Amino acid sequence: MVKHWTPLELKTLRQLRDGFLAGTAGKSNYWISETQLELYDRTFAERIGWKWAGALSELGERGWRPQSHRIVDWACGTGIASRSVLDAWPGQFQSLSLHDRSPGAMRFAAERARALHPDLQIQADDGLDENTLVVLSHVINELPEPQLIRLLEQLRKAREIIWVEAGAHAESRQLITVRETLREGHPSFAAVAPCTHQAGCGLLSRANERHWCHHFAQPPSEIFQDAAWHQLSLELGIDLRSLPYSFLVLQRGAPAQAEGFSHTLGHPREFKGHDKVLSCHAGGVSELMLQKRDAPRLLRQIRKGQHSGVYRWTMAGGKIVAGEQIAEGDPDQEAEGLAK
Ligand SMILES: C[S@@+](CC[C@H](N)C(=O)[O-])C[C@H]1O[C@@H](n2cnc3c(N)ncnc32)[C@H](O)[C@@H]1O
Repeated sequence: MVKHWTPLELKTLRQLRDGFLAGTAGKSNYWISETQLELYDRTFAERIGWKWAGALSELGERGWRPQSHRIVDWACGTGIASRSVLDAWPGQFQSLSLHDRSPGAMRFAAERARALHPDLQIQADDGLDENTLVVLSHVINELPEPQLIRLLEQLRKAREIIWVEAGAHAESRQLITVRETLREGHPSFAAVAPCTHQAGCGLLSRANERHWCHHFAQPPSEIFQDAAWHQLSLELGIDLRSLPYSFLVLQRGAPAQAEGFSHTLGHPREFKGHDKVLSCHAGGVSELMLQKRDAPRLLRQIRKGQHSGVYRWTMAGGKIVAGEQIAEGDPDQEAEGLAK
């Protein structure tokens, strides 16, 4: 069998991953060489990019785009977050500032961005203002609490924030704290996504302690035919099919959101003939029943998970009988449910 990864590469990746998963990576600057950054960039960062694609695709579906003309990539690493955002909204941004505690990472990210966007001004991090979108990615568990509190105060100066994290309970709960902190105080931010409302987060109720706000991104289908990815997944024990992530998008002075929408959280619980869908809306987070006999197409769609999960439900007898997606009201689906 062809070996796509050298033993040293695998050792380097295992060390990085162990630090990320154990939450110990934040203790010191772990970027030690250009080779290591390059290896991270074409493996873990690539995978993080698929999560960004999921979050940004939901924003597109919801008709949101940033107003800022400047990006700050905070804790940029190799810069996958800013590259994803630059690709999503071509022509929107005039400048990019890169911030990281590692000068090597900032250099690497700058070179990558410059190669892809020669007209973009790439600047030293010179603070945040009302013309700034801050992107943050996979850093929250590296920040001790006092540092996170300082960061949030700094973030208040920005106009918009897009923050993507791992889809685990702890990281999602931390992002909820970020939401609740920046919703209060001055200036305050409105939630753009994944929230469909501006009420307090329903996951903070006692009954919902075990749940968390996470979603699943779709990796590009080519990777399942790619021998290098296959080998990497076996060597590092990464399930390529499952790509959970948490995210949060905030904006100062965001326009009001369309009313009545809910967001599904995680995967539905599947049973014979029905699913239980964890659904977040202005009134809170609750598990709703969706029966195959009421809405077979909707049930299939939700099980496949190939959508953002933002729906306006039609309820009857306490059950979901139809769901309209936020971008495209689908009359068929409504009819499917309402005909019952
Ligand atoms: C797991 S990496 C993620 C990098 C990149 N954002 C991504 O999604 O691929 C976390 C990054 O946070 C940086 N970092 C950790 N603590 C930091 C701090 N206190 N200030 C600035 N950067 C920090 C690390 O150097 C590293 O580049």
